[in-house]
Amino acid sequence: MKLFIYHTPEATPSNSLPDCAVVIDVLRATTTIATALNAGAEAVQAFSDIDLLMAKSDQWPPEKRLRAGERGGKKVEGFDLGNSPLNCTTDVVNQKRLFLTTTNGTRALQRVQQADTVITAAQINRQAVVNYLLEKQPEIIWLVGSGWQGTYSVEDTACAGAIVDSLLQQASVSLLEIAGNDEVIGALSLYHQWQDNLLSVFRQCSHGQRLLNLDCDADIEYCSRTDIMDIVPIQKEPGVLVKG
Ligand code: MLT
Repeated sequence: MKLFIYHTPEATPSNSLPDCAVVIDVLRATTTIATALNAGAEAVQAFSDIDLLMAKSDQWPPEKRLRAGERGGKKVEGFDLGNSPLNCTTDVVNQKRLFLTTTNGTRALQRVQQADTVITAAQINRQAVVNYLLEKQPEIIWLVGSGWQGTYSVEDTACAGAIVDSLLQQASVSLLEIAGNDEVIGALSLYHQWQDNLLSVFRQCSHGQRLLNLDCDADIEYCSRTDIMDIVPIQKEPGVLVKG
């Protein structure tokens, strides 16, 4: 098992693919995806483009679909939901398909959607993802952060570091053996610095500040919880994630 971390879709290589891509957007897309599927959503179909989302979701029975998403953190006008994981309760999403568009997370998914296996990770399902990787033992794994419009996001790196930390604790391998690039060492160090106070760093980072300005502190608090959900969202066809 060799791990590579890429901080943004833009930094992710375009001339190769891993055996398993793990897409991370802790604030908030991959937290929302895990929460929706855990609450009984039939699937989450991700789009970076709003027009394409509208065209595809128009073909779906209206009573079985929800249009969800944000731009700049704010709900897309006319959509059923924004991108708050807290809105994805069973009474809202059960047996429905969430057609989701977000500023960065859905672009990260699109970037690696041709990989053999694509799963998503957030802090809330970190251990479930680690268990999946330990069971399947993919040879080359990419942890792909979503960042913010091409720039680095500390919360995605912290989550990548949390995954590396747990893998090292459970598999009898050294950091030297599994680190495919220096980003892996950096992410682990970052996680060690903040592991007991993720909420604090999530509130201080640029997207945390953006969400605080939108009165979304409850979302930040929820997204900072660790290992509360035993679910691995897995891509069953390009862009469509289901409960693994
Ligand atoms: C994104 O994909 O950029 C995020 O999930 C934005 C958000 O917090 O809604």
